[in-house]
Amino acid sequence: MDTKLGIPQKDMKTNVKNLTVVLASEMVLYVKTRKFHWNVAGNSFMEMHKLFEGQYNELELIIDEVAERIGKLGDKAIGTMKEFNDHSVLKECTKYEEKDAMVKELLEDYRTLINKIRDFIKETEETDDFGTADFLTAIIQKHEEQAWILRRYNN
Ligand SMILES: [Fe+2]
Repeated sequence: MDTKLGIPQKDMKTNVKNLTVVLASEMVLYVKTRKFHWNVAGNSFMEMHKLFEGQYNELELIIDEVAERIGKLGDKAIGTMKEFNDHSVLKECTKYEEKDAMVKELLEDYRTLINKIRDFIKETEETDDFGTADFLTAIIQKHEEQAWILRRYNN
């Protein structure tokens, strides 16, 4: 659907396609972070349990904003687990890992996602859709903060 906001349909489609990858990847990261929240164990259990909870709560807000941003660009947001897995740049965690491996994996995922979103911002800026470029930039900043926190645990 044409939003008549002055951005060509073709460019809108490109941006929706990229936002869909972001949405799917955030969902995979969200589910993984919940899994780690449920299964982390050891001396620092409560600290890590709460740390992961804070992170998945932030991801939940981002997910909602990304899905609604797709709506604002005139398209539909995907919403099945299969679609999330198919479009995500991140992989689900099927193992049951120790605390350090959990932190390492999340950190790696944030790095992957930040780099992917950075590529999307460059692409988006070429379409004059500065609203989406700015929106994605704000997400990168949130992820950089989470990655910074995880790095402190990653000895
Ligand atoms: Fe909980």
